[in-house]
Amino acid sequence: MRVTDLIERKRDGGALTRDEWTALMRYYAAGDIPDYQMAAMAMAVYFRGMEDAEIEGLTAAMLESGERLSLGHLGRPRVDKHSTGGVGDKVSLVLAPLVAACGVAVPMMSGRALGHTGGTLDKLEAIPGFRTDLSLDRAVAQLERLGCVLIGQTDAIAPADRRLYALRGATATVPAIPLIAASIMSKKLAEDLTGLVLDVTTGAGAFMTRLEDSLALARTMIALGERRGCRTVALLTDMDAPLGVACGNAVEVEESIALLRGGGPDDVREVTLALATEMLLVAGVAADAAAARARAVRALTSGDALEMFGRIVVAQGGPVGLVDAPAAHLAAAPVRRVIAADRDGFIQRVEPRVVGSAIITLGGGRSRTTDAVDPAVGVLVHVRPGARVAAGDPLLTILARSEAGAAAAASELAVAVSLAEAPPPARALISHRVTAAGVEELPGTVTH
Ligand code: URA
Repeated sequence: MRVTDLIERKRDGGALTRDEWTALMRYYAAGDIPDYQMAAMAMAVYFRGMEDAEIEGLTAAMLESGERLSLGHLGRPRVDKHSTGGVGDKVSLVLAPLVAACGVAVPMMSGRALGHTGGTLDKLEAIPGFRTDLSLDRAVAQLERLGCVLIGQTDAIAPADRRLYALRGATATVPAIPLIAASIMSKKLAEDLTGLVLDVTTGAGAFMTRLEDSLALARTMIALGERRGCRTVALLTDMDAPLGVACGNAVEVEESIALLRGGGPDDVREVTLALATEMLLVAGVAADAAAARARAVRALTSGDALEMFGRIVVAQGGPVGLVDAPAAHLAAAPVRRVIAADRDGFIQRVEPRVVGSAIITLGGGRSRTTDAVDPAVGVLVHVRPGARVAAGDPLLTILARSEAGAAAAASELAVAVSLAEAPPPARALISHRVTAAGVEELPGTVTH
């Protein structure tokens, strides 16, 4: 196999065979194909795309490059959720214990913040002592005991994807749908799931800003999951504005605990319940959507989900009383600065990328994978598009480590919220449901 021949074929619009993808990734993971050749291949894919059989071949090759969990002995359905990311998205912290409290095993493997989007692992690590780097053996033992574990992708899972993803980040080839789908699914399929629910975020704060790209990504990932016997469903959710109020690590943990207590912002609760409904349905533990949703609501209102979260926290090294007194355990920012409306009007936009970028400026996010994050800092977003405000109403609160940090964030955030005389057109909070059978446009829930 000559790598240049394969690159040339892809560059000219041809397809590689499954065996060729397998060999390519095996040699690349072993270090026998240099990054410059793989970068050329990724760019060729970016422009030429991949056929379904090629995406399947690439996914299988990356999946088979590492270890896989083996969870059949749990004797119950195993379901995870994956989100394509956003700002203020703390859904995983609520959803995992909620679904586990309904009797489904949830082996949740999450990522870290990168760029403007937050990461579940950083949020969890805002809890003092919380360990996300459990070995696979320890993760399995916790799943056997509690039915839920919240960990990061270990070095052993899909190492070929890890290498390729880093290369794509450095060569402007991340936003290629076949590569994103293969990358995400190679890691998810390593979890030995019986079901997977995808939260494909769409809008200015998401990877995908256009509906048609989100639908294409959802369909591609669903095909990969279903072909391997993992029931896969996607919801398209709005990420044109930050989700909820809290954006930042410790404050998102606090907001998650409020949600687990049955309170918290409506938008996060609605997205969480919709995803929980789908997880219970793919798990096969509820007869229909109404029964699944009722079960999820019950787990929230009864306190079972909160109790499960508390047990997970303790099992993974966090403090015993966290859920009862989060403020006593979580880091708080010493400086708070409010940005208020300078006139009356309707909120047009709250720019998620500007909020995410201000969090990086405050030290709560990452521009490089090696950056440390400050759990205490963040931004509270008090308004959503469509809200009517009067001059002087608070729009944002900056949570900073220092006055200088607050000033730098304030100058970035000056363009985060825009006002107009009339409300903007409504957007659906959850716009589509995608399954192997097709795409359903969902009625109802709008963001404003
Ligand atoms: N997340 C991943 O894990 N891979 C991608 O390619 C994009 C997002």
